[in-house]
Amino acid sequence: MRLTRYFLPVLKETPSEAQIVSHRLMLRAGMIKQAAAGIYSWLPLGFKVLRKLEDIVHEEQQRAGHIPMLMPTLQSADLWRESGRYDDYGEEMLRIKDRHGRDMLYGPTNEELITDIFRSHVGSYKDLPLTLYHVQWKFRDEIRPRFGVMRGREFFMKDGYNFDLTKEAALHAYNRHLVSYLRTYERMGLQAIPMRADGGPIGGDYTHEFLVLAETGESEVFYDSAVTDLSFGDRQIDYDDHAQCAAVLEEFTSKYARTDETHDEALFNEVPEERRRSARGIEVGQIFYFGTKYSEAMGATVQGPDGQVVPVHMGSHGIGVSRLLGAIIEASHDERGIIWPEGVTPFHVGIVNLKQGDAEADAACEALYASLTALGLEPLYDDRDERAGGKFATMDLVGLPWRITVGPRGLKNGVVELTSRRSGESEELPPEEAVQRLVQIYAGRA
Ligand SMILES: Nc1ncnc2c1ncn2[C@@H]1O[C@H](COP(=O)(O)OP(=O)(O)OP(=O)(O)O)[C@@H](O)[C@H]1O
Ligand SMILES: [Mg+2]
Repeated sequence: MRLTRYFLPVLKETPSEAQIVSHRLMLRAGMIKQAAAGIYSWLPLGFKVLRKLEDIVHEEQQRAGHIPMLMPTLQSADLWRESGRYDDYGEEMLRIKDRHGRDMLYGPTNEELITDIFRSHVGSYKDLPLTLYHVQWKFRDEIRPRFGVMRGREFFMKDGYNFDLTKEAALHAYNRHLVSYLRTYERMGLQAIPMRADGGPIGGDYTHEFLVLAETGESEVFYDSAVTDLSFGDRQIDYDDHAQCAAVLEEFTSKYARTDETHDEALFNEVPEERRRSARGIEVGQIFYFGTKYSEAMGATVQGPDGQVVPVHMGSHGIGVSRLLGAIIEASHDERGIIWPEGVTPFHVGIVNLKQGDAEADAACEALYASLTALGLEPLYDDRDERAGGKFATMDLVGLPWRITVGPRGLKNGVVELTSRRSGESEELPPEEAVQRLVQIYAGRA
């Protein structure tokens, strides 16, 4: 993409309505525009990152054997009356009447709809286990939408639902989700710590929330600092292997890590004092096992191997895809702007032409652009006729992890400059070598 042809409405001033850094930076970098309280348009740059996150979520869910589909945003109230949640959900649910006076709602979550799909089509244990998921917009009429996309009213969420014959099988699905979520967040350059949580209106005894530590987080958390040393890395997982998935759950959840809702002072005090931490965190996902709560209420049953008809065991599992943009920025920025992790960056590299209009500099930038593109990398080329300072400021704000700077002086010596946004370190090298370096950096990630 060439900047002169892109739509990147960068703001010079810091917007006064934004209280936290990720919201400020998303507005300044031209990623989102508020349409109404807690409702945003995703401008091209924001949309690009949102899609990248969605792609990672899809890849990791399918790697775990979960099946993608798409349910609508608008739902009929009837199903929610069956489960009893039409009344329970309260004011957070946006209720709508259609022209025939029928009660509809904008889905805050999808347990009812998916259970209805399941009961219409599945009747035998032979079709289990089954995990279906989608990534779709949700609406919750939050009393205080704030912090930009972090607490929106309309937000983008992955929600998945497992159907299993037994509790034991459903708990394997729970573990599988925990493993796939660990992988997902790490690919996004985030450490998200699974913490014991509270069931809330969805219900259930088995539930973990995934929290990204950040001062601006809305949750209070307590943990053993040893949990922050854990990392999933690139270990290979066989998602059908119950013992292997259970071992990962054990490894990542046996140390103390809880939100204030489940915090237990006595247990916490058993952690060696120098490792006890209290901090704030952003909830970026949650997994639940809730047994037969919905399947019993809505008649989602299967015939077991013994011929008996039994309600299925279910769980639901969510990732806050749009909130993740804010969480990533909270975790990765400096005073000049965003610093995207390589796995989610909207463009792989920025090209800054220090002397637009100089025949050699222009040609070198075009050649870089062409070879990067041919190798499957996406550059953002700042081809505006602007001062170098302004170009650097835009690149730093937008936060691409790598920048190639091209100027007549370097070209005389056959070199360009490759700069890391994170470390600020630069290196002079021939253009072909800069391209090769980027190919290596993004190998397996682009
Ligand atoms: N208002 C919102 N704006 C953006 N993302 C949200 C919002 N509410 C929930 N999410 C995201 O969706 C994920 C799954 O939804 P879940 O039902 O667990 O939310 P929740 O526990 O009600 O969230 P919270 O406690 O933050 O209100 C959450 O972990 C979070 O990342
Ligand atoms: Mg939650």
